Amino acid sequence: MSLVLPLRLLLLGAPGSGKGTQTSRLLKRFSNLHSLSSGDILRAQIAAKSEVGNKAAEFIKNGKLVPDSTMVELINTELELRGWLNEASSWILDGFPRTRTQAEALRKVLIPRKATVNMVVELDVDQNVILERIEARWVHVPSGRVYNLDYNPPKVPFKDDITGEPLTKRSDDTAEVFQKRLDQYNLELGPLKEFYRDLGVLHRVSGNTSDTIYPKLERLILEKDKKNDI
Ligand SMILES: *[C@@H]1O[C@H](CO)[C@@H](O)[C@H](O)[C@H]1NC(C)=O
Repeated sequence: MSLVLPLRLLLLGAPGSGKGTQTSRLLKRFSNLHSLSSGDILRAQIAAKSEVGNKAAEFIKNGKLVPDSTMVELINTELELRGWLNEASSWILDGFPRTRTQAEALRKVLIPRKATVNMVVELDVDQNVILERIEARWVHVPSGRVYNLDYNPPKVPFKDDITGEPLTKRSDDTAEVFQKRLDQYNLELGPLKEFYRDLGVLHRVSGNTSDTIYPKLERLILEKDKKNDI
């Protein structure tokens, strides 16, 4: 089905909360919805050697973080290129903005195009549940097959189902490393939520699995679409 009204959606969620899964389910459900991830934009603009792409490549080459102003410029350029920078297009932005400063900068470029973010949903997943899931995750590096010891265990413990080769843990799939990412997220979340709450577009759905969160998220979107209040 298609959305009647334009939806410019931002999903806020901790690393490991399943933003990617929710996004791909929404894209399957709503045929006129698109998604754009900050990582994809960065790669596309660098490959295209656009002016802003070259600027971003320079920061990365020097081992620096791409600054907020350049990220906003990248997103703006890519939205423009795709013809989505208008009041009629529907899209989900993934991985950006992460901070209130970024959100403010993004809003500034979207306002003149009447394409501001009109719905923000916080995916509220218990962080202990996220950590348990990370701890239980093992991978077969050559194939990229991922196992979860609780939900999707290998047939033989710690062995890949197809090749029988040993499974390993990714270096960042430990509670310790992941906790640092969660702490960073938690630090940025308050000011970011406040910004969107003040604009009257913030919502929240709670659940510990993608299957429990998705129906709530879809219902929120459908209600908003029906109410014509976007
Ligand atoms: C998520 O899991 C935690 C810990 O098991 C539990 O306390 C909480 O109620 C769960 N949340 C939901 C929405 O099911």
